[in-house]
Amino acid sequence: MSHPLKDQVLTRFAGASARTKAHVRARLASVPWPALLERLPKSGLIASLGCGHGAIEIAAALDSASRQFVACDIDDAKLTQARNAQGSLPIQFCSGDLWQALATRNTRADAVMAIDVLYLFDTAAQIRFVNQAWQHLPPGGRLLIKEMAATPRWKWGWNRLQEWLACHVLRITASVEGVVGLRPTSWWAEVLAREGFAAVRIQPLDAGYFHPHALVTGVKP
Ligand SMILES: C[S@@+](CC[C@H](N)C(=O)[O-])C[C@H]1O[C@@H](n2cnc3c(N)ncnc32)[C@H](O)[C@@H]1O
Repeated sequence: MSHPLKDQVLTRFAGASARTKAHVRARLASVPWPALLERLPKSGLIASLGCGHGAIEIAAALDSASRQFVACDIDDAKLTQARNAQGSLPIQFCSGDLWQALATRNTRADAVMAIDVLYLFDTAAQIRFVNQAWQHLPPGGRLLIKEMAATPRWKWGWNRLQEWLACHVLRITASVEGVVGLRPTSWWAEVLAREGFAAVRIQPLDAGYFHPHALVTGVKP
Protein backbone atom coordinates (compact mmCIF):
# COMPACT_ATOMS: atom_id res chain seq x y z
CA MET A 1 0.00 0.00 0.00
CA SER A 2 1.11 3.53 -0.66
CA HIS A 3 1.50 5.87 2.31
CA PRO A 4 3.63 9.01 2.58
CA LEU A 5 5.63 7.51 5.48
CA LYS A 6 6.35 4.16 3.85
CA ASP A 7 9.34 5.32 1.82
CA GLN A 8 10.69 7.29 4.78
CA VAL A 9 10.68 4.13 6.87
CA LEU A 10 12.21 1.98 4.13
CA THR A 11 14.96 4.56 3.52
CA ARG A 12 16.01 4.18 7.14
CA PHE A 13 16.65 0.49 6.53
CA ALA A 14 18.67 1.13 3.35
CA GLY A 15 21.89 -0.04 5.00
CA ALA A 16 20.35 -3.24 6.40
CA SER A 17 20.80 -6.75 5.02
CA ALA A 18 18.67 -7.86 2.08
CA ARG A 19 16.82 -10.23 4.42
CA THR A 20 15.95 -7.43 6.87
CA LYS A 21 14.88 -5.11 4.07
CA ALA A 22 12.63 -7.82 2.65
CA HIS A 23 11.18 -8.52 6.10
CA VAL A 24 10.43 -4.85 6.80
CA ARG A 25 8.96 -4.38 3.34
CA ALA A 26 6.75 -7.43 3.88
CA ARG A 27 5.53 -6.13 7.26
CA LEU A 28 4.69 -2.73 5.80
CA ALA A 29 2.79 -4.41 2.97
CA SER A 30 0.87 -6.94 5.03
CA VAL A 31 0.01 -5.07 8.26
CA PRO A 32 -2.54 -2.22 8.39
CA TRP A 33 -0.05 0.06 10.14
CA PRO A 34 -1.55 3.36 8.85
CA ALA A 35 -4.83 2.44 10.57
CA LEU A 36 -2.89 1.54 13.71
CA LEU A 37 -1.11 4.91 13.71
CA GLU A 38 -4.51 6.65 13.58
CA ARG A 39 -5.57 4.78 16.71
CA LEU A 40 -2.42 5.36 18.76
CA PRO A 41 -2.28 8.36 21.09
CA LYS A 42 -0.68 11.30 19.26
CA SER A 43 1.56 12.10 22.20
CA GLY A 44 3.07 10.56 25.30
CA LEU A 45 5.07 7.46 26.10
CA ILE A 46 3.99 4.26 24.39
CA ALA A 47 5.33 0.92 25.60
CA SER A 48 5.53 -1.63 22.82
CA LEU A 49 5.95 -5.37 23.35
CA GLY A 50 7.65 -7.40 20.61
CA CYS A 51 8.65 -4.55 18.29
CA GLY A 52 10.70 -6.71 15.92
CA HIS A 53 12.64 -4.43 13.55
CA GLY A 54 10.70 -1.47 14.93
CA ALA A 55 9.27 -0.40 11.58
CA ILE A 56 5.85 0.44 13.02
CA GLU A 57 7.33 2.34 15.99
CA ILE A 58 9.56 4.29 13.57
CA ALA A 59 6.55 5.11 11.36
CA ALA A 60 4.56 6.19 14.44
CA ALA A 61 7.38 8.44 15.69
CA LEU A 62 7.72 10.00 12.23
CA ASP A 63 3.94 10.48 12.16
CA SER A 64 3.91 12.48 15.41
CA ALA A 65 6.98 14.09 16.98
CA SER A 66 5.20 14.06 20.37
CA ARG A 67 5.23 10.27 20.62
CA GLN A 68 8.00 8.47 22.50
CA PHE A 69 8.47 4.73 22.70
CA VAL A 70 9.98 2.09 24.90
CA ALA A 71 9.99 -0.92 22.61
CA CYS A 72 11.24 -4.38 23.55
CA ASP A 73 11.87 -7.64 21.79
CA ILE A 74 13.67 -10.90 22.53
CA ASP A 75 15.41 -10.95 19.13
CA ASP A 76 18.66 -9.00 19.50
CA ALA A 77 19.48 -9.13 15.79
CA LYS A 78 16.20 -7.37 14.98
CA LEU A 79 16.84 -4.81 17.73
CA THR A 80 20.25 -3.98 16.26
CA GLN A 81 18.63 -3.28 12.90
CA ALA A 82 15.94 -1.21 14.63
CA ARG A 83 18.55 0.92 16.41
CA ASN A 84 20.47 1.43 13.18
CA ALA A 85 17.28 2.65 11.50
CA GLN A 86 15.90 4.92 14.22
CA GLY A 87 18.35 7.83 13.87
CA SER A 88 17.40 10.49 16.42
CA LEU A 89 13.79 9.37 16.85
CA PRO A 90 12.75 9.12 20.54
CA ILE A 91 12.53 5.34 20.71
CA GLN A 92 14.31 3.26 23.34
CA PHE A 93 14.72 -0.18 21.81
CA CYS A 94 15.48 -2.69 24.50
CA SER A 95 16.13 -6.35 24.85
CA GLY A 96 13.98 -8.45 27.14
CA ASP A 97 11.40 -7.38 29.67
CA LEU A 98 9.20 -4.40 28.78
CA TRP A 99 8.07 -3.78 32.37
CA GLN A 100 11.63 -3.80 33.64
CA ALA A 101 12.53 -1.21 30.98
CA LEU A 102 9.69 1.00 32.18
CA ALA A 103 10.73 0.52 35.81
CA THR A 104 14.27 1.60 34.92
CA ARG A 105 12.85 4.84 33.53
CA ASN A 106 10.77 5.13 36.72
CA THR A 107 7.69 5.96 34.71
CA ARG A 108 4.33 4.66 33.58
CA ALA A 109 3.32 4.46 29.95
CA ASP A 110 0.44 6.48 28.50
CA ALA A 111 -0.36 3.52 26.25
CA VAL A 112 0.76 -0.07 25.89
CA MET A 113 0.67 -1.86 22.57
CA ALA A 114 1.40 -5.33 21.27
CA ILE A 115 1.21 -5.84 17.52
CA ASP A 116 1.15 -9.45 16.38
CA VAL A 117 3.12 -10.74 19.37
CA LEU A 118 0.74 -12.26 21.88
CA TYR A 119 -0.12 -15.25 19.70
CA LEU A 120 3.41 -16.41 20.58
CA PHE A 121 2.52 -16.59 24.29
CA ASP A 122 0.78 -19.36 26.18
CA THR A 123 -2.55 -18.63 27.86
CA ALA A 124 -1.13 -17.80 31.29
CA ALA A 125 1.41 -15.36 29.78
CA GLN A 126 -1.28 -13.78 27.61
CA ILE A 127 -3.49 -13.05 30.60
CA ARG A 128 -0.49 -11.92 32.66
CA PHE A 129 0.40 -9.39 29.94
CA VAL A 130 -3.05 -7.76 30.16
CA ASN A 131 -2.74 -7.61 33.94
CA GLN A 132 0.76 -6.10 33.76
CA ALA A 133 -0.42 -3.53 31.21
CA TRP A 134 -3.18 -2.55 33.63
CA GLN A 135 -0.63 -2.10 36.41
CA HIS A 136 1.67 0.04 34.27
CA LEU A 137 -1.02 2.34 32.86
CA PRO A 138 -2.39 5.45 34.59
CA PRO A 139 -6.15 6.11 34.65
CA GLY A 140 -7.05 7.06 31.09
CA GLY A 141 -4.20 4.97 29.71
CA ARG A 142 -4.93 2.83 26.68
CA LEU A 143 -4.11 -0.79 25.84
CA LEU A 144 -3.98 -1.73 22.16
CA ILE A 145 -3.65 -5.34 21.08
CA LYS A 146 -3.46 -6.14 17.39
CA GLU A 147 -4.23 -9.78 16.74
CA MET A 148 -6.53 -11.60 14.33
CA ALA A 149 -10.30 -12.02 14.13
CA ALA A 150 -11.72 -15.53 13.68
CA THR A 151 -13.60 -14.45 10.59
CA PRO A 152 -13.59 -14.69 7.66
CA ARG A 153 -12.61 -18.30 8.26
CA TRP A 154 -10.35 -18.56 5.18
CA LYS A 155 -8.28 -15.61 6.39
CA TRP A 156 -8.02 -17.15 9.88
CA GLY A 157 -6.89 -20.48 8.39
CA TRP A 158 -4.34 -18.81 6.10
CA ASN A 159 -2.92 -16.88 9.03
CA ARG A 160 -2.55 -20.03 11.16
CA LEU A 161 -0.63 -21.73 8.36
CA GLN A 162 1.63 -18.74 7.78
CA GLU A 163 2.49 -18.28 11.46
CA TRP A 164 3.22 -21.96 11.87
CA LEU A 165 5.66 -21.73 8.95
CA ALA A 166 7.24 -18.51 10.33
CA CYS A 167 7.83 -20.06 13.79
CA HIS A 168 8.65 -23.66 12.99
CA VAL A 169 9.97 -23.85 9.41
CA LEU A 170 11.34 -20.48 8.25
CA ARG A 171 12.21 -19.49 11.84
CA ILE A 172 11.86 -15.77 11.14
CA THR A 173 9.80 -15.30 14.35
CA ALA A 174 11.28 -16.05 17.76
CA SER A 175 9.12 -17.41 20.57
CA VAL A 176 10.32 -18.27 24.06
CA GLU A 177 7.26 -20.42 24.69
CA GLY A 178 7.58 -22.11 21.32
CA VAL A 179 3.83 -22.14 20.91
CA VAL A 180 1.42 -20.61 18.49
CA GLY A 181 -1.29 -19.34 20.85
CA LEU A 182 -3.56 -17.75 18.28
CA ARG A 183 -6.64 -16.36 20.00
CA PRO A 184 -9.40 -14.54 18.16
CA THR A 185 -9.87 -10.89 19.04
CA SER A 186 -13.23 -11.73 20.65
CA TRP A 187 -11.28 -13.74 23.26
CA TRP A 188 -8.93 -10.81 23.85
CA ALA A 189 -11.87 -8.41 24.30
CA GLU A 190 -13.25 -10.67 27.05
CA VAL A 191 -9.87 -10.76 28.81
CA LEU A 192 -9.59 -6.95 28.75
CA ALA A 193 -13.12 -6.52 30.09
CA ARG A 194 -12.50 -9.09 32.85
CA GLU A 195 -9.32 -7.25 33.86
CA GLY A 196 -11.37 -4.05 34.29
CA PHE A 197 -10.65 -2.15 31.10
CA ALA A 198 -13.51 0.07 29.96
CA ALA A 199 -14.70 1.01 26.48
CA VAL A 200 -13.40 -2.29 25.13
CA ARG A 201 -13.72 -2.33 21.35
CA ILE A 202 -12.79 -4.65 18.50
CA GLN A 203 -12.03 -2.82 15.27
CA PRO A 204 -11.67 -4.94 12.12
CA LEU A 205 -8.72 -3.73 10.04
CA ASP A 206 -8.66 -6.41 7.37
CA ALA A 207 -10.23 -4.65 4.38
CA GLY A 208 -7.78 -5.04 1.52
CA TYR A 209 -5.55 -7.52 3.42
CA PHE A 210 -5.25 -11.32 3.26
CA HIS A 211 -5.09 -11.59 7.05
CA PRO A 212 -8.09 -11.03 9.39
CA HIS A 213 -6.36 -8.12 11.16
CA ALA A 214 -8.28 -6.62 14.07
CA LEU A 215 -7.44 -4.29 16.91
CA VAL A 216 -8.70 -4.67 20.47
CA THR A 217 -8.55 -1.53 22.60
CA GLY A 218 -9.48 -0.71 26.16
CA VAL A 219 -9.08 2.23 28.50
CA LYS A 220 -8.12 1.99 32.17
CA PRO A 221 -10.88 3.89 34.03
C1 LIG B 1 5.37 -11.15 14.07
S1 LIG B 1 6.65 -10.27 14.88
C2 LIG B 1 5.88 -8.70 15.05
C3 LIG B 1 6.89 -7.60 15.16
C4 LIG B 1 6.32 -6.19 15.20
N1 LIG B 1 5.43 -5.98 16.32
C5 LIG B 1 5.60 -5.86 13.91
O1 LIG B 1 4.38 -5.75 13.94
O2 LIG B 1 6.26 -5.74 12.88
C6 LIG B 1 6.61 -10.92 16.55
C7 LIG B 1 7.77 -10.42 17.39
O3 LIG B 1 7.55 -10.80 18.74
C8 LIG B 1 8.83 -11.07 19.31
N2 LIG B 1 8.62 -11.84 20.56
C9 LIG B 1 8.28 -13.13 20.70
N3 LIG B 1 8.19 -13.46 22.00
C10 LIG B 1 8.48 -12.33 22.71
C11 LIG B 1 8.57 -12.02 24.11
N4 LIG B 1 8.34 -12.95 25.04
N5 LIG B 1 8.88 -10.75 24.46
C12 LIG B 1 9.12 -9.81 23.53
N6 LIG B 1 9.06 -10.05 22.18
C13 LIG B 1 8.75 -11.29 21.78
C14 LIG B 1 9.56 -11.79 18.21
O4 LIG B 1 10.96 -11.77 18.38
C15 LIG B 1 9.12 -10.99 16.98
O5 LIG B 1 10.00 -9.94 16.69
